[in-house]
Amino acid sequence: MRRRLAAGNWKMNGRLADLDQLAKIASAYPDPACDMLLCLPATLIHTAAARLSDTSVMVGAQDCHCAASGAHTGDISAVQLADAGARAVIVGHSERRADHSETNGTVCAKALAAHGAGLTAVICLGETLAERDAGRTLDVIGAQLAASVPEAAGAENTVIAYEPVWAIGSGRSATSDQIAQVHAFLRAGLVERFGTQTGTAIRLLYGGSVKPDNATEIFAIPEVDGALVGGASLTADDFCPILAALAAAQD
Ligand code: 13P
Repeated sequence: MRRRLAAGNWKMNGRLADLDQLAKIASAYPDPACDMLLCLPATLIHTAAARLSDTSVMVGAQDCHCAASGAHTGDISAVQLADAGARAVIVGHSERRADHSETNGTVCAKALAAHGAGLTAVICLGETLAERDAGRTLDVIGAQLAASVPEAAGAENTVIAYEPVWAIGSGRSATSDQIAQVHAFLRAGLVERFGTQTGTAIRLLYGGSVKPDNATEIFAIPEVDGALVGGASLTADDFCPILAALAAAQD
């Protein structure tokens, strides 16, 4: 059985003082029924990882370079993230694909770098509104899955997050039917490519306007193993009810 995962993505938000929110989350869930991961800005990772080392909250990053070191001004490698205390890194978020022209090939190389550094790669994929309106959702997702996920991916080092671009930060989550369709498609694709054992063990998250008031409905959808949460992961008041909904779904 897959252990559920509540992951937060703080994006370009948060300063040292905001780490108090993580301490609150950790103390509210000393022994959670699901895994908890907060992907923080790089500036906060080391401090957060040190502060949370005795808790069940894992700290992650939001991007990494595909090389381990070298002349890449301003970039950070997966090795450095692991050294700072990160346990996971998001790769291929749609904001990076759009703002930094990241291709599926780049995303795959970053996921490989994450694996090489001992990090879990949270590989994001999702269609734009134009692609959905054109009836191309599953084509796009299928192509992203094929080319963004490394050949040697396994459940121990890879999580897939389905994040429809139009649902991110819009307050408009995908419907249960839309999520169910894509997650069933992803599960079938993973089983076809990696075999039943690995294909059924890799966790699938949904992301895009997950909030306390829609979390229970989303977590009841088959093949949804948790969420990748943006805005509602920034405060304990918003994130804790989402964790509670996920823990309840586990029972
Ligand atoms: P929101 O939850 O703010 O829509 O963001 C989702 C997201 O992009 C998480 O990676």
